[in-house]
Amino acid sequence: MNNSFACALVLAGGKGTRMHSESPKVLKTLLGESMLYYVYNALKPSLGENVFTIVGFEAERVEKAFPDMKDRFVLQAEQLGTGHALQMGWECIKQTESEYCLVINGDTPLIQEHIVADFLTAVQRDGSDISFVSITPDDSGEFGRVTRDENGQVAAIVEAKDYDESVHGPASGEVNAGIYCLKISAVESLLSKLTNNNKSGEYYITDLVDLAVESGMNVTAVNAGDSIDLMGINSPFELAQAESVLRLRAAEKLLNSGITLHNWESVVVGPCVKIEPGVEITGPCEIYGQSVIARGSVVESHCRIVDSEIAEGALIKAYSHLEDAQVGRDCMVGPYGRLRPGAVMEEGSKVGNFVEIKKAVLGKGAKASHLTYLGDSEIGAGTNIGAGTITCNYDGVNKHKTVIGEGAFIGSNTALVAPVTIGKGALIGAGSTITKNVNDGDLGVARGKQVNISRTFKKS
Ligand code: UD1
Ligand code: CA
Repeated sequence: MNNSFACALVLAGGKGTRMHSESPKVLKTLLGESMLYYVYNALKPSLGENVFTIVGFEAERVEKAFPDMKDRFVLQAEQLGTGHALQMGWECIKQTESEYCLVINGDTPLIQEHIVADFLTAVQRDGSDISFVSITPDDSGEFGRVTRDENGQVAAIVEAKDYDESVHGPASGEVNAGIYCLKISAVESLLSKLTNNNKSGEYYITDLVDLAVESGMNVTAVNAGDSIDLMGINSPFELAQAESVLRLRAAEKLLNSGITLHNWESVVVGPCVKIEPGVEITGPCEIYGQSVIARGSVVESHCRIVDSEIAEGALIKAYSHLEDAQVGRDCMVGPYGRLRPGAVMEEGSKVGNFVEIKKAVLGKGAKASHLTYLGDSEIGAGTNIGAGTITCNYDGVNKHKTVIGEGAFIGSNTALVAPVTIGKGALIGAGSTITKNVNDGDLGVARGKQVNISRTFKKS
């Protein structure tokens, strides 16, 4: 599709009152990505960079979420309706010098790129002044209703609230999906005619249809059947329904690309996650963001993995949480492992149950098998970290670093008070509180000496 044929305007200015949330509706997430992410994704193949967005409620938050779209946001300071949103975006649209503008509600995350492409192809073929996608769902709900004249030609879109059977006749079931293609030169003359004379007191983009028909313009509806893909999200229930559709779609795609899923319907994988064939995952579990999982890896149930890289042959045991972490080849994590941002596990290293790692490198083959916190640390290859070891990295004001050399052995229940360095091959006695550096190969012990005192019992 030629870019100069059409630009796009995404309507994302509303608060989404029916969502009962303080954050803008279009930033609500499905599988870890916002509604708007999905809309942009579907538009991109047909419209490239030629996509503008109306923002209003919490505009800055929406803009910040999409730095790549910078300079292509248009502020609708007061949200007076979808027609008003279009009026606010009109100057920008005109400047693109496109022939058409595709307008789409930002709350339609199930939209797929082929629907956009097919719609634009139909518009190019028909040359309509206004075209919109209609659907015929089982339940017309709050969708705007399409009315047609006696010849079957589109007459108007009447919003559900304003629909009156005694005036408009029995509803046909055909409704407006919220995607329009407007011939810019034709619609220009209609924009100023929009009024807010309706039950909501808002300027409706849908009134353009009525106005265009009255002016003798060519208006068409492209019917897409009962497609779930065009569902609009207005409530938490609809968000849950849409997320369910996406979850199953994603799981099916994984299964078809050679990934084994157990309890597959509860495996939740975000749209940007990359998983190689041969990986095995058991649900319920969630994998989001830019995570990458290489072949031969296994993820057990109840794991939550966000923006993390897992190399070949790694085993992530049940109930482990990984965020912004790197797990090397053949590593083992969990059960109940916690890798926080900046955790790096080198090849063959192991993190066992109730071990938390933050901004720390666990060298090749190193092990921290039980009940440990390693923060702001470098742990050398082959080192063994005993159960209950804590790096005391925070002095109440600043964070400090702990460095442990290769092949060291840290006895159980050791507190390493940072900044501190433990040399290669050093040995730390169990129960020590280490505040001074320990040289290569030395033994460091820092604990009260054991005193055994015999007790004499008085006989009464
Ligand atoms: C809209 C249509 C309805 C259609 C349905 C499809 C209108 C008047 N009605 O209804 O015919 O069946 O979508 O899902 O358009 N927005 C703004 N600025 C505003 C108001 C809204 O940018 O001042 C944005 C919202 O953020 C949202 C989109 O426009 O993404 C649609 O608004 P919404 O209130 O959800 O419209 P619906 O009532 O669903
Ligand atoms: Ca809506």
